[in-house]
Amino acid sequence: MQKLIKGMVLAGGSGNRLFPLSSVVSKQLQPVYDKPMIYYPIATLMSAGVRDIQLITTPHDLPMFEHLLGSGSQWGLNLSYKVQHAPRGIAEALIIGKKFIDDSPVALILGDNIFHGELKLTEELAAFRNGAVIWGYPVDDPERYGVVEIDDHGAVLGIEEKPKYPRTNLAVPGLYIYDHTAFERAAALTPSARGELEVTDLNRSYLSDKQLKVIQLDRGVTWLDSGTHESLLDSSRFISTIEKRQGLKIACLEEIAYQLQYVDEEGLRSAIARMPDSPYRTYCESALPE
Ligand code: DAU
Repeated sequence: MQKLIKGMVLAGGSGNRLFPLSSVVSKQLQPVYDKPMIYYPIATLMSAGVRDIQLITTPHDLPMFEHLLGSGSQWGLNLSYKVQHAPRGIAEALIIGKKFIDDSPVALILGDNIFHGELKLTEELAAFRNGAVIWGYPVDDPERYGVVEIDDHGAVLGIEEKPKYPRTNLAVPGLYIYDHTAFERAAALTPSARGELEVTDLNRSYLSDKQLKVIQLDRGVTWLDSGTHESLLDSSRFISTIEKRQGLKIACLEEIAYQLQYVDEEGLRSAIARMPDSPYRTYCESALPE
C-alpha cells in the first residue's frame, strides 16, 4: 500500500535579504498582512490533505515557532520540529528529515512561498507514485529563481539555479514532491558555489534518471515569494486586496481545519476560546454553525 504523504516546511535559512527586519524575528514569522508568513505554506499543505508535517528551522527560531504553532492538534495536524544548524541548503532538509520521512513520499514547501488558487495539489499527491514533481510558473524575473526548460510536450529539458541568462521565463516555485529516493539523492549532492545543497541539483538528479515531472501552473494560480522587502509588501497587498474584496480569509488555519473536518465543532470552539478578542477571532467565530 502507498504510504501516506508527509509534509515538510522549510523555515531555516538566513533571511539576510530582509535585514534588519529579520535580525530578531525569522523571515517566516514576519506578517503577511494579517497572519505570520508560515501560515500560508502550512495552509497549502493541509488543504491538500497533508496532516503529518515537520517544520525545519534554526536553533534560534525554534522556540518561537513552537510557541506559535504548538503540536498542530488545534488544527488536526501532527506538527513536529527539527533544527537546521546552518543554512546549508534546501536539499539538506531531506537529510535532516530522514527519520520523519521514513520512506514515505514527501511534499516539501518553502516557508516563504505563498500560493493562492487552484493548485490541484490534492490530485497530484493522490496520483503520485515515484520520481519527483515540480511546478513551473511564468515570471518577469526568472534569474531570481530555479528556471526550467521544457519541450512542446511538457517534458523537462533542463533546470538551472538562478541563471544569469535564463533560457525560459518558467520559474520553479518552492513546492516539490519527492519519492523515497530523495534522501539518498540529497546525501550524494555536493555543495554549490554558495555552499548549499541546492534543491535544483536534487531535481537534476531526478531529471538525469528521467524521473522529473513538471506541471505548468495556469494563470489562475498566484505564486508569490516573500523573501525581499518588495515581495513581502506585494504579498501583504495581495492578501489584503483579496480578503477585503471577498470578506474571506486566505490561510485561516482554523477555518480550513474545520471545513476539511480535521477538527469538529467542539475543536473549533476550543481553539477560538484561546484567542484574544480580535478581528481574527471574530472571523473564526463566523465559521461556526449558526
Ligand atoms: O522561491 C523559490 C526558489 O527558492 C526556487 O526557485 C529556487 O530554485 C530555490 O533555490 C529557492 O531560491 P532562494 O535562493 O530564493 O531560496 P532562499 O535561500 O531564499 O530560501 C528559501 C526558503 O528556504 C526560505 O524560506 C528559507 C528556507 N531555507 C533556505 C536555505 C538555503 C532553509 O530552511 N534552509 C536553508 O539552508
